[in-house]
This record gives sequence, structure tokens and C-alpha cells, in this order.
Amino acid sequence: MILVTGANGMVGSYFAELSAEFPEELDLTDRDTLDVRDWPAVRSRIRDGGYSHVIHLAAETDVDRCEVEPDHAYRTNAFGTQNVALACGEADAVLVYTSTAGVFGGDGAMGPFTETDAPCPANVYGRAKLEGERAVEHLVHRYFIVRAGWMMGGGPSRDKKFVAKILAQVGSGREIMAVNDKVGSPTFARELVLGIRDLIATGRYGLYHMTNHGVVSRYDVARRIASTVGSDVSIVPVGSDRFPLPAPRADSEAMRNEQLGYLGIDRMSSWEDALDAYLAEWRTAAGPRTASAADRGVR
Ligand SMILES: NC(=O)c1ccc[n+]([C@@H]2O[C@H](COP(=O)([O-])OP(=O)(O)OC[C@H]3O[C@@H](n4cnc5c(N)ncnc54)[C@H](OP(=O)(O)O)[C@@H]3O)[C@@H](O)[C@H]2O)c1
Repeated sequence: MILVTGANGMVGSYFAELSAEFPEELDLTDRDTLDVRDWPAVRSRIRDGGYSHVIHLAAETDVDRCEVEPDHAYRTNAFGTQNVALACGEADAVLVYTSTAGVFGGDGAMGPFTETDAPCPANVYGRAKLEGERAVEHLVHRYFIVRAGWMMGGGPSRDKKFVAKILAQVGSGREIMAVNDKVGSPTFARELVLGIRDLIATGRYGLYHMTNHGVVSRYDVARRIASTVGSDVSIVPVGSDRFPLPAPRADSEAMRNEQLGYLGIDRMSSWEDALDAYLAEWRTAAGPRTASAADRGVR
């Protein structure tokens, strides 16, 4: 049996959908059924569950909320991960921790970053996730740390990130201002989940980057979305100073999957193919009678 924390989010939804792809049954938990900040609950669940693996997704992923509420960020992303790691260590379960490209770029380096580059987070979210990595490294004997990039996934009901926002803007038909001075590597959550499945099967523990291939700005993504859905909406490239936000963003969160390449199991597609696949998935999920402004943009 494999325990999954934070299974109600963008990435977690694919574990539910793809559960038959895993060699063991998945025990999907969310904040209500397993709050990772609750040490006694985490400890007893993992000790008594007899899990071979724990896939730890649960996190506060709102980067700006993390910046203004650092205690909340560290309590969830660092302390919560420490709880899961300690319990896995005690139970000798393999821990898979999803980390982030946000551990890079705080020093102005542009990457694309590989597993051998030294992390330097630009904001509280990145620092808290990096603390989580440290806890995993120190407390668990057998672990996979899997760093993902700009997440795409979840569809109309769960996507809270940039693709959903761009789709809503494309659907509105109004001019879009899209940032072109920050870059990253998109990561389609469906491919990430299948990649984690394949990585677990190797038993080759360690640190991995797992993103779609390519380095893009939000402007690049917006242009491809508009062209894919047949929209002629005007997209204007702008600097990030047009949108002041609480959390500073690194100029680059671009990554390369060097270790997966060495192992010969890098099956992540190009960012263009991944985005196209996600938009097709969105169209199917939206259905003909639930068309919102965002959905109309995809059609
Ligand atoms: N989103 C990205 O761009 C991105 C990029 C790279 C890596 N990652 C990492 O990938 C993992 C999955 O993220 P995601 O994209 O699926 O984000 P998500 O949609 O925000 O999902 C995270 C889930 O964790 C849950 N959660 C928050 N606090 C919790 C707690 N104390 N106990 C249990 N569950 C809790 C959330 O529940 P609520 O909905 O109730 O808050 C949410 O369902 C995270 O570890 C994240 O750091 C994400």
C-alpha cells in the first residue's frame, strides 16, 4: 500500500485517476483525513499503515501567501515534511517528496538548473520547501526528492495556476499582458505522476528533476494557448514590474532532468506537447454545458 498526502490538489488528482498504474493500492489522503502538521496523526498513520511508500504532496503552494504568512509556510512545508520524514524513517517506508524549481534562482543564476547546482531560493516558499528537502535527506534512509517546475494540471475544477489564469483571460477576449522577463520549465502533472511511478520502480533513491523540456516565459505559454485555441486576442509582453506581488520571483526557475537522462527514463515530453495534451484534457473535462469564460477560450 502507498500513502499519498495532499491528494486533493492539482497533482494529487492524477494519482486518483491513475491509481491502476501503480503496483500497489493507493491510500489517498487530504488535509481533512491527514493534516501533515499533526505529528501524532502522521506518526500513527504511517506506523500502523504498513506502507511500502509515502508520496508526500501536501504543501502550501500559494507563493504569495507563504511570503506574508511565513509561519504558516514553514509549519506546512518544512515542519509538515519533517513529520512525514520522521515517520517514514521510523517505519522504514520509502519517501517520495515533491519539491520545486523554486529552490533556485535567488542569486540571479539563469540555469537551466540540474541536480548538481546549489539551491538558492528567492522567497519564503522556496526556502520552506528546501528545508523540507533537508529534513528528508537527514531523516529517511530511502527517499526520492522530485523537483517539479511550473505546474500544469487539475483542469477546470482544480487548476489554480498560470494556465487556468491565461485561459480565463483568453476567454474574456480582452488584451492580455504577459510577463516575459521570468522563465521556467512547465511540468504537466499527469506526466509527473507517471514519471514518479517509473522512478519508484528503479529503486534508485536520490534527487531528481522532473519537468517538461524547454525554457519558457508566461508570455510564450500565453501565445501558444491562444494559438492552440484559435484565439486572436492581443498578447503584450511586459516586465514583471507591471505586476507587483508580495513574493519576489527568481528570474529563472528553469530546470533540466539530468539524472533521469542518465538513468534512461526521462519520458517527459516537450513543454509544447505537454501543454497541448493538457488543453485537450481541459476541453474534455469542461464538457459542452459547463462552458465558462475560460472554457470558451479552449474551444
Ligand atoms: N503548483 C506548482 O506550481 C508546483 C510546482 C513545483 C512543485 N510543486 C509541489 O508539488 C506538490 C503538489 O502541489 P500541487 O501543485 O498539487 O498543489 P496544490 O494543488 O496546492 O495541492 C497541495 C495540496 O496539499 C494540501 N495541503 C495543504 N496543507 C496541508 C496540510 N497541512 N496537510 C495535508 N494537506 C495539506 C492542499 O489542501 P487544501 O486544498 O485544503 O489547501 C492541497 O490539496 C507540492 O509539494 C508542491 O510544493 C508544485
